[in-house]
Amino acid sequence: MIKSLMITAAICLGATTLASAQTVGFSQIGSESGWRAAETTITRQQAEERGIDLKFSDAQQKQENQIAALRSFVAQGVDAILLAPVVATGWDSVLQEAKEAEIPVVLLDRKVDSDESLYLTAVGSDLVHEGEVAGQWLVDNAGEGECRIVELQGTTGSSPAIDRAQGFRNAIEGKDNLEIVRSQTGDFTRTGGKEVMESFLQAENGGKDICALYAHNDDMAIGAIQAIKEAGLKPGEDIKIVSIDAVPDIFQAMAAGEANATVELTPNMAGPAFDALEAYRNDGTEPKKFIQTESKLYTQNDDPQEQYEARKDLGY
Ligand code: AHR
Repeated sequence: MIKSLMITAAICLGATTLASAQTVGFSQIGSESGWRAAETTITRQQAEERGIDLKFSDAQQKQENQIAALRSFVAQGVDAILLAPVVATGWDSVLQEAKEAEIPVVLLDRKVDSDESLYLTAVGSDLVHEGEVAGQWLVDNAGEGECRIVELQGTTGSSPAIDRAQGFRNAIEGKDNLEIVRSQTGDFTRTGGKEVMESFLQAENGGKDICALYAHNDDMAIGAIQAIKEAGLKPGEDIKIVSIDAVPDIFQAMAAGEANATVELTPNMAGPAFDALEAYRNDGTEPKKFIQTESKLYTQNDDPQEQYEARKDLGY
């Protein structure tokens, strides 16, 4: 009797779980960086842990692919959409379509310049602040002499590229010895970072005139480190390096003395996103429009080897 009740309860529980299983479409930018790969891995893990059926679409860096993916999610009638938008502009129409279909959209890690009524919430860091933290590190560590800075920007038109550039400039404003002498996109990739750094080195007396590199992400910094070594200079010493993300490889570079500082961006945007969606679905709780993640600075003084060990298995 008890056994049969337990079986009935288990079947009912199973039925409840199935009936409430959510289907969520995830339009990911691509796999341009270690950070991006980690975000994808963690989003899949978070979905699996919550019994969410995640429909994953890799846009390969193209906004048109993301728009097509969103339209396909709407046509399939998913319960919600996660969107990591490659660039900031051009989302109004497709977000409006999702809204009309009553499908909540949560933005992950990058911002859009659409009206905020078109999405439920955005999970991410304060991207301007990240740039300010990186810039302040350089202000505190460049010394008094003239310091010529080169900048590797992220993907043109993306909110992190725009905001991290602004934040860094905010921090160094009024410091007459600090000057950004070259700035170009490396598209958030290692190969882009290496190629652009090679051209910076060539243009700046083989790199001897460069005092510091600010890279909008760690992957570009890692590509640049390679270029600096090939030019016969010591990254981290001859050229100070500050970047953003806190991926495991940058901690290895820091442990080797080849990078100086990084600002952490958590790759777990999906956890807070799914929590917000669940609360919204359960009782209509409207989340804050911006769910902010932390931006912590790490330097060579923060036991980079330990930081590497703590992160290396997280899917980066
Ligand atoms: O939008 C976040 C940025 O995108 C990360 O800093 C970078 O690594 C990624 O490509």
